[in-house]
Amino acid sequence: MHTIDLRSDTVTRPTPAMIDAMTRAPLGDDVLGDDPTVQALEARFAALMGKPAAVFVPSGTMANQAAIRAHTEPGDEIICHEGSHIIHYEGGGPAALSGCMCRTISTPDGTFDLPSVESLIRPPDVHFCRSRLLVFENTHNRYGGTVWPLARFAEVAAGAKAMGLRRHLDGARLWNACVASGHAPAEYAAHVDSVSACFSKGLGCPVGSALAGDEETIRRARRARKLFGGGMRQSGMLAAAALYALDHHIERLVVDHANAARFAKGLRDIRGIEPDPSQPGGPHTNIVFFTLSPGLPIDAPAFQERLRKHGVLLFAVGPRRVRAVLHMDVQEAMVGRALEAVSEVMRGAGC
Ligand SMILES: Cc1ncc(COP(=O)(O)O)c(C=O)c1O
Repeated sequence: MHTIDLRSDTVTRPTPAMIDAMTRAPLGDDVLGDDPTVQALEARFAALMGKPAAVFVPSGTMANQAAIRAHTEPGDEIICHEGSHIIHYEGGGPAALSGCMCRTISTPDGTFDLPSVESLIRPPDVHFCRSRLLVFENTHNRYGGTVWPLARFAEVAAGAKAMGLRRHLDGARLWNACVASGHAPAEYAAHVDSVSACFSKGLGCPVGSALAGDEETIRRARRARKLFGGGMRQSGMLAAAALYALDHHIERLVVDHANAARFAKGLRDIRGIEPDPSQPGGPHTNIVFFTLSPGLPIDAPAFQERLRKHGVLLFAVGPRRVRAVLHMDVQEAMVGRALEAVSEVMRGAGC
């Protein structure tokens, strides 16, 4: 039986056509600044984001951490949502790599308003950290693939700028946000000083993310990339995969969003499964969260394990909370099969 892998959209694999593009890419040594395919990708990414410059990096984590390093000095404070990727899943990078503190905002969906940012800004005083950087995440991973409404995003970003903050957008899944909202990436990027996006999530690329911003921010981020060990040599092969994905794998993300909605809808009919509070109206994009009803004789880790035996992989992300991510290697028919497997596991648990 073919495994249905819903653990993450990072599991997507290069298609034969993408591999073909990778093998045909003209190459150079990017650390020496002469890989033409990397240069082409950086120019394309900068243009897509409406920024003067961009740098290709190995991962979304490095894009965020290089941005943080570029915008801050040790002792500075970052303001971000309490469920941010930069806090939970980047190894303590803000502290370890840039010497920064983080101050957090709590909301149910990963978006926030200006007063909540304002209330965290510290006045200039020798006792205090310097409030320096506001980090957005769009879509928001831990809070259900939530899309920031553009007007709200613009309002918060403008207010933060007026209060003297730099602004970074962790756009690991900005492509999903744009396909779902109908906005161009540059419409979001116009309101921040730097923006990252990943090619290795849902687009089939084996590796790669990029960061765009003004010339000085990207010069500093490029230096941080080298310092963090992310300078890559014949990385044109990876950049070629990203260029291929930009041409062929962005628009089809609507299919993943439709499959996520289908999966979430099917789950609603299965006894013992409840929609997650982060997604009252269903998933915005390709990430589906759900919870197992309290009082059942099965918790999320046991559910994950039993489902694995039915050939469906996903992640327990709490004692009763589960996450499934739809992506280009999961076709519509597989969604139906995954739902059948969930039903069987829940029936087996007495539901
Ligand atoms: C919102 C967000 N930012 C950053 C990253 C980091 O990307 P990478 O795994 O390429 O380091 C991820 C990864 O899932 C993510 O979801």
